[in-house]
Amino acid sequence: MTATLTNLPYNRQDWQGGYRSQYRETAYWIESIDGEIPPDLEGTLFRNGPGLLDVCGTPIHHPFDGDGMVCAVTFKGGRAHFQNRYVRTEGYIRERAAGKSLYRGVFGTQKSGGWLANLFNFDLKNIANTNVIYWGDRLLALWEAAQPYRLDPSTLETLGLDDLDGLLAPGDAFAAHPRIDPNDGEPVLVNFAIKPGLTSTIVVYELDTQGKLLRQYDHSVPGFAFIHDFAITPNYSIFFQNPVSFNPFPFALGLRGAAECIQFDPQAKTRAIVLRRDGGGARTIEVPAGFVFHHANAFEGEAQQLCVDSICYASFPEVEPGSDFRQVDFENMDPPQLWRFELDLARETATAKILDTRCCEFPRTHPDVVGRPYRYLFLAAAHNPSGGNAPHQALFKVDVESDARQLWTAAPERGYVGEPVFVPRPGATAEDDGWAIAFVYNAATQTSDVVVLDGRNLARGPIATLHLQQHVPYGLHGNWVSQCFV
Ligand code: CO
Repeated sequence: MTATLTNLPYNRQDWQGGYRSQYRETAYWIESIDGEIPPDLEGTLFRNGPGLLDVCGTPIHHPFDGDGMVCAVTFKGGRAHFQNRYVRTEGYIRERAAGKSLYRGVFGTQKSGGWLANLFNFDLKNIANTNVIYWGDRLLALWEAAQPYRLDPSTLETLGLDDLDGLLAPGDAFAAHPRIDPNDGEPVLVNFAIKPGLTSTIVVYELDTQGKLLRQYDHSVPGFAFIHDFAITPNYSIFFQNPVSFNPFPFALGLRGAAECIQFDPQAKTRAIVLRRDGGGARTIEVPAGFVFHHANAFEGEAQQLCVDSICYASFPEVEPGSDFRQVDFENMDPPQLWRFELDLARETATAKILDTRCCEFPRTHPDVVGRPYRYLFLAAAHNPSGGNAPHQALFKVDVESDARQLWTAAPERGYVGEPVFVPRPGATAEDDGWAIAFVYNAATQTSDVVVLDGRNLARGPIATLHLQQHVPYGLHGNWVSQCFV
């Protein structure tokens, strides 16, 4: 394999540069811009991700264990403002005061002191690093195993844990992947929580635009449920219970992080759990899927048919103890790929077909087509179409109704791209009439850019490239809001 390595469009050292801690917190109007910011692009992109890849100098074991850093990019009158700030979680504050790591990370970062200090220590740190949403006048930093942290949308200052007006009890979780049902102009936020145990309980919350609870329902499934994301349609919420098992002993003994005790079972089947949103029951259907972190979208067909489009790995990318994530061997890992699953609720059967073989992740749609029949997906993808695993260096647009694809690659500029958030152009009617906005780590300058692309024509490249003064470590998820808070 060594001979082909030189032909790869990425360079491991370049890619690793995006996983350096960013210690600076800043707020400034962006001066260095190539192209032009569309004057009708007004609003704020909030984005979350691990900003520190070390705790007081000790490297963390996996980026998913990194403290959450929220960025806000505000577009206003053809200008753009950037701001970044750490979520002052209890753990962040305590560790900074102590000058050392005090918690175990789910992905294997251990507390100082070796296995003895980690023995039976279940005090996991709520790192608030996975997503950030603005809902019911609250800006919330989300991490799936705990309550959200509320932030000030103007300053990104941390206001504290938020229990959603008493909806969440202390210790309750609130997943990092809420879905917003456009619901004919009366949007509803649908989110879930997993209560672990010998059986796992999925709790679904539905909130109105004020943040008030409209509906709550739950369903228990046998065994361990590793569910990061879900999908909705007007009548259903859909969960894929991945074929993994959890061996708690090395975790309890302090030898491994929780995620390192998850084992993928290639013989087992993924179970799709389909819950009626009116609380009227559940169906479980075996689905020929591998491992799914993210769903792209779902919609209802005729005669109790459901379509679910998801990013699938042939196997779970297991976290090996003692390994360094910066040394990941992309070529030997299963690539994430876009699949379509058709579920027949009446017959309780499912079929699967691959929609595109290119390695891709972080699927996003126009907000109005969530849960509805749709055409376009915007994703981060590998430069090469070969299907092999590689870092994301391109933005990719997939027309799920045809073979039409559009791609903009940052590989020639040594760029590494994150999740593209789709922003509809005000007044537009076409599903792809808007902008795809993403962070790009530029290895040549070791700083990050924010790129704005025309959703109708990704291949044209950025219509505006905003050069930030610093790098922003690879992030996870973000969302657009039409308000400007600066
Ligand atoms: Co996610």
